[in-house]
Amino acid sequence: VTRSFPRNCWYVAARSEDVDSGLGRYRVADVPLVLHRQPDGRVVALEDRCPHRGYPLSAGHTDSDLIVCGYHGMCFDGDGTCVKVPSQAYPPYGAGVRSFPVAEQAPFVWVWPGEEGRARLTVPPRLPWLSDPAWASTGLVFDVAANYLLLHDHYLDLTHVPAMHPEMLAPGLQQLAAIDHVTMSEMSVALQRTLPPAPLAGWESFATGLDRRGDLARTHHGEFLSPAVNLERWVIDPGDEDPYEQARIQAVTPTTETTTRLHWFMARNYHLERPEVGQRLHHIFETLVRQDIAVVEKIQANSEGRPPDGVRVSADTAMLKARQIVAGMLGRERASARAGDGRKPADAALP
Ligand code: FES
Ligand SMILES: [Fe+2]
Repeated sequence: VTRSFPRNCWYVAARSEDVDSGLGRYRVADVPLVLHRQPDGRVVALEDRCPHRGYPLSAGHTDSDLIVCGYHGMCFDGDGTCVKVPSQAYPPYGAGVRSFPVAEQAPFVWVWPGEEGRARLTVPPRLPWLSDPAWASTGLVFDVAANYLLLHDHYLDLTHVPAMHPEMLAPGLQQLAAIDHVTMSEMSVALQRTLPPAPLAGWESFATGLDRRGDLARTHHGEFLSPAVNLERWVIDPGDEDPYEQARIQAVTPTTETTTRLHWFMARNYHLERPEVGQRLHHIFETLVRQDIAVVEKIQANSEGRPPDGVRVSADTAMLKARQIVAGMLGRERASARAGDGRKPADAALP
C-alpha cells in the first residue's frame, strides 16, 4: 500500500444538506461512493461501481429504497445486496456491492471507507461548534489539488501567518509566540500558544466590538483531531467578561493521493444575534482559506512526486507528530491486511 491516508478512519463525505433521495457521486480515500438518503431518512453509502459490469450506480436511478443500475437494471438495497436482476427470476446467490458504515451528525455525513468491523470501535470526532446553540457557524466546500497532509501541515504550523497574513495579527507583531506545549494521544495532536497582551487586529475589534486601544491576551489552540479533521481556536480574553472565541473546523477528506475535499467552517460564540458579524468574519477568513489553498497547491505541483523531507524547525513539531500518527495507522492497516483478520481490507475490494 503506498497511499498516504488511512482508511480505518471516519471522514466527512458530504454535508447533510447535499444528500437527498437522488444519487450523489463522491470519493473518499480513493474509494468511489454513491450516497443516497433512503425514504426513512437514513443515508447509505455504496461503492459506486455495479458488480455486474462496473457501471457507476450514481448514473442510475432510485426506486423507493432501492438503487437501480442504469445499465441492465440490477437493483440493490441499502446494504448493497442485489435483490433483483430483471433478466432472470432470482439474483445470483450472495451478489451485491460493498456498503460502507455511515454516521450522520449534522452538518456532516461521515463515512468509514475501511474495514467494516472496526468502524464500531470508534465514533467520528465530536464538533459541538457546529451543533451547539451557543455557537453560530457558516461554511464552504473547496476542492483542493493537493495531498490532504499538506493541508494538515499548513494548519498545524501557524508561523506562516506573519509572513502570509500579517494583517490578521496585532499591529506591529513580527512573530507569533512560540508554542507552549504540544500534547499527543493515540489519534490526535494538540498545541497551544499564549500571545503576549497586545492591541487587537482590525478583524478582532470589528468582530468582537472591543476597544482597539487596550492590550488584550489571546490564546491559540490548534488540534489535529484525526486524519480527517483539523480544529483551530482563537480565544480573546478581555479579562472582565467571557472570552470571545472563534473556531475554524477544517474537515480534510482525501479524495485521491493528490486531491482533497475541504469542508471549511467558521464558528463564533459571541454576537450570535448579529448575522452581519458572521458574514464579515466568513468573508475575511474565506480570503485566508483561498490563500492557504493556493500555497498547498503550489507545493503539490512542485513536489514531483517526492515525499516531503527537508529542513525541520521547532515550529514543525506538531506537524511531525501528526505524520507519526498517520504512519502508525497505515502500519496497523498493512499488518491487518497481511494477517487477513477482520473483514476483507478495503484494498482487496477495489481494482
Ligand atoms: S452494469 Fe449494472 S446491471 Fe449491468
Ligand atoms: Fe494560512
